[in-house]
Amino acid sequence: MPQDNQEQADYWNDRAGNTWAQLQDRLDTLLKPLSEAGLRAANVQDGQRVLDVGCGCGDTSIALAAHGGIVQGVDISEPMLTQARSRSSEVEFILADAANFAPDQPYDLIFSRFGVMFFNDPTDAFRNLRSLLNADGRMVFVCWQPPSENPWMSVTGRAIAPYLPEAKTPLDPRAPGPFAFADADYVRTILSNSGFHNIQINAFTASLQVGEDTDQALALQTRVGPAARVMAELDGEAREQALAAARNALAAHQGHNGIHLDAAVWIVSATAS
Ligand SMILES: C[S@@+](CC[C@H](N)C(=O)[O-])C[C@H]1O[C@@H](n2cnc3c(N)ncnc32)[C@H](O)[C@@H]1O
Repeated sequence: MPQDNQEQADYWNDRAGNTWAQLQDRLDTLLKPLSEAGLRAANVQDGQRVLDVGCGCGDTSIALAAHGGIVQGVDISEPMLTQARSRSSEVEFILADAANFAPDQPYDLIFSRFGVMFFNDPTDAFRNLRSLLNADGRMVFVCWQPPSENPWMSVTGRAIAPYLPEAKTPLDPRAPGPFAFADADYVRTILSNSGFHNIQINAFTASLQVGEDTDQALALQTRVGPAARVMAELDGEAREQALAAARNALAAHQGHNGIHLDAAVWIVSATAS
């Protein structure tokens, strides 16, 4: 039975996808140090067939094509793919769920920047991705380490937490979402159970400029990522207080050339056989 990722499709076709499309340029600049590390690990060669999974607005797909790849990007978000198509006609951007995607030709390389942590059944999804690779094909993706290692997101999250209603049930840290792959052992198990070999998971850290000042940083943090998701649940005085707390927390990190906060990712690579 095909995997059902409808909840994520609804999420990425609504406010989240539209916001990512509007902020594409800003987000690509923010994430650049992490993309570059992922692309270095991917080391795409001229003429290789490449699939960019959860390609979103297409930044890494376009970069892979610029390095000589023959690239297709697959995503479930129509607004993000519309933005991607407006940026490049060299890459083919396809609307499909990567967990069930069945192209007519295999790939030499599967790549993803933050697009593979949203599957309901990750092992089943990665089994499908592996089946799309040539026998000597490789996969390289970038995913987030835990929030504690990512102050660029968690500083705001911690500041607004006291203003949120208490969760009725404890949150599942492995539920589809940005931090679902924070535990490297869990990622290794998923990839091994889905048939991948030569699994390597390397830590990479960078300092990200989240804004030139608190206004810019807050504008971004309240629109994308986990903080945006919870801010949307607040209104009235609680929202105002949460915003003030987030502003104070970010202001504490103001430096002479903007607000810089640390980010930590896993750069994961594996082979099909
Ligand atoms: C955090 S965004 C990253 C987008 C892009 N890779 C980037 O770095 O700018 C996650 C992306 O994964 C996509 N996505 C989530 N679940 C997916 C699925 N099952 N199949 C394909 N794309 C999916 C979302 O629509 C979204 O574009």
